[in-house]
Amino acid sequence: MKWDGERMTKSARNKTIDFDLDHAPQAVLEQIATLQPGPVSLAAIRDRSINGDSFQVVRQFPDRFADLALVDPPYNLDKRYDGLNFKHQSTGEYQEYTQRWIDLIKPKLTPTASLYVFADWQTSVALAPVLAANFTVKNRITWQREKGRGAKGNWKNGMEDIWFLTMDEREYTFNVDQVKQRRQVIAPYRENGQAKDWHESAAGRFRDTMPSNFWDDISIPYWSMAENTGHPTQKPEKLLAKLILASSNPGDLVLDPFAGAGSSLVTAKKLDRHFVGIEQSRLYTAWGVYRLQAADHDRSIQGYTDGVFWERNTGALQRRLNKKKG
Ligand SMILES: C[S@@+](CC[C@H](N)C(=O)[O-])C[C@H]1O[C@@H](n2cnc3c(N)ncnc32)[C@H](O)[C@@H]1O
Repeated sequence: MKWDGERMTKSARNKTIDFDLDHAPQAVLEQIATLQPGPVSLAAIRDRSINGDSFQVVRQFPDRFADLALVDPPYNLDKRYDGLNFKHQSTGEYQEYTQRWIDLIKPKLTPTASLYVFADWQTSVALAPVLAANFTVKNRITWQREKGRGAKGNWKNGMEDIWFLTMDEREYTFNVDQVKQRRQVIAPYRENGQAKDWHESAAGRFRDTMPSNFWDDISIPYWSMAENTGHPTQKPEKLLAKLILASSNPGDLVLDPFAGAGSSLVTAKKLDRHFVGIEQSRLYTAWGVYRLQAADHDRSIQGYTDGVFWERNTGALQRRLNKKKG
């Protein structure tokens, strides 16, 4: 941001989507769905971004239609979300709140569906027993993200939890081959002159590694990224792409009851999945719809190219490779 004498202006490289509703394109406003009271059919909500209160809206949906739920609820912190002030609650109150949304969402999932639930470490303390009482807990992913306010009397929080849950203990989708991570090989090992578990290309030596539950290859969206919006807790498309590719198939439907700026919906669309999103803020819904419309002509996901997830800070390398191919 810089000062132009009268107001702060954005630098030309700042791609943040942060228009206000008065300046939202008409085509965006027209695509924001709102529901009249009463039951709705799947056809009426598929691939829609709905502006409303999930605790009302989800009740109107048919049962057993979602193959994957990505749930990023307000964490148990004081936080301002355009028009909604979420207040820190006691552990018991946050657990009741969690059980309330689970009771709404669970009947909407297919019997082989998966869920991912986001939390910071403090929220997880309250969340975990409630999740375990309602679903099979498959894993807890630690996302190491480069943001967090430093504190003089404590360690800075630089991670988030992503709980991986399934409806059925055994029957669920997990496409491990689609979420391998491509790493540059530092010490290439050969056996009988042959590369062992890595391959050589004009751009260098690489290994596609099995994905673990520790993710340090994804940064939060920032101002020079096309996906960045003014939402205070937006999740990166690269992160959501991993979850969607691993735990759903093309044509499946992804449900997000706390959709924010639409990150999961946009990523689902780019990966040929259907989606339904609900967000209480009309402004955030508008930013999401704007991104959904942009995805009609740009399906790229930063950090995921040619079906491969790349390490952080390999953008230049990826561009070089693309150039060579082109
Ligand atoms: C942690 S943020 C989700 C951010 C989102 N994953 C993204 O990438 O933009 C939680 C969102 O839930 C919304 N929210 C909170 N309570 C809600 C409710 N009852 N119904 C619909 N949306 C709600 C907030 O406005 C906020 O945008």
